[in-house]
Amino acid sequence: MTAEVVEVREWTGVYEELLSLADRLGQARYIPAREDHIEESVLLGAFVEGRCVGFLRFMVQIIGSDEGRPPIFDAGRPLTEGFVEAFGVDAEYRRRGVGKSMQEWAIEFCEGRGCYQMRSRSPVSSRENYALKISMGYAIHPSGENDSYYFVRTLKRV
Ligand SMILES: CC(C)(COP(=O)(O)OP(=O)(O)OC[C@H]1O[C@@H](n2cnc3c(N)ncnc32)[C@H](O)[C@@H]1OP(=O)(O)O)[C@@H](O)C(=O)NCCC(=O)NCCS
Repeated sequence: MTAEVVEVREWTGVYEELLSLADRLGQARYIPAREDHIEESVLLGAFVEGRCVGFLRFMVQIIGSDEGRPPIFDAGRPLTEGFVEAFGVDAEYRRRGVGKSMQEWAIEFCEGRGCYQMRSRSPVSSRENYALKISMGYAIHPSGENDSYYFVRTLKRV
């Protein structure tokens, strides 16, 4: 089984289907882009035979901008990151590489944008996500909020 990973726009027919899957996984509130500090928000859907089986939303932002920190400059430009805000796969389709495919899509996109790192945060109950992040080589940093950890991985500089 191969899932097709594509960008999903709010005005397309599959958006509601994606939102309903996110709702079932308790993540609907993370799908619309509401952040003011970001440069770009990208919503991905994973599809198998036309059915939406997964979603991932990430933002491109200047590192520190979400916490009101000043930018860190490298070669005269502020360092940026891809921050994954929402991520889930339909329970029936898990453990078939769908989640990893969406993560890889996001990584490739962020490398293309010249981002320095990928980052995300998830609660300690997200054991499958922790296993996925470890398998993809992410470093782990405890967060002060909501019994959660941050996952961070530097990207290839292109
Ligand atoms: C986290 C999640 C998106 C992973 O999606 P997925 O499509 O099942 O992940 P993949 O099949 O791409 O897994 C890639 C690798 O991650 C690891 N992994 C994923 N799920 C795992 C599990 N249940 N147990 C152990 N390792 C696991 C494995 O190394 C796996 O590779 P392998 O199958 O070749 O061994 C999915 O489990 C999910 O939606 N969970 C609930 C929501 C959630 O926790 N979201 C993220 C935090 S908000």
